[in-house]
Amino acid sequence: MKRTPENIGQPERRSFLKGGIAFIGGLISFAIGVPLIGFAISPALKKGSKKWVDVGIVDLLKGSRYKKINYTFQSKDGWVEINKKRSVYVTDKGDGDFVVFSRVCTHLNCLVRWNESKGQFLCPCHGGVFDKEGNVVDGPPSRPLERMPLKVEDGVLYVKEA
Ligand code: FES
Repeated sequence: MKRTPENIGQPERRSFLKGGIAFIGGLISFAIGVPLIGFAISPALKKGSKKWVDVGIVDLLKGSRYKKINYTFQSKDGWVEINKKRSVYVTDKGDGDFVVFSRVCTHLNCLVRWNESKGQFLCPCHGGVFDKEGNVVDGPPSRPLERMPLKVEDGVLYVKEA
């Protein structure tokens, strides 16, 4: 374009408008894109939320001594909802005071078994031994058995699962 007194400044104005439009377009894309991306990937970043799972009716569990209970619960892992199986030992300490031990050995996650004659939990994998309180007595585990968070509500015993 030939420069005349009338068009002096037009290319600058045009490029300024183009730049302004691109900037506003970028802002709009950013404003829409960031929440969309956050919404799309947030389930993958979330840890499964904990939930209470029904383990049994308290009246039926009264007097239990290291009673093995298996149950299944739904857990959300990212976008996927899966059924998880769990096995625990429930023991009644009296006065409605229960303790629920996870069966998962704290060494390498094998399932421990309660041995009534020895009064201990024994791990079949590497010889881990836990006392009746879940404390390590022998073998490679360095931590006690997990005691599941629990509550009693409307006569039902619940444990908290991830
Ligand atoms: S997994 Fe239990 S002792 Fe190794």
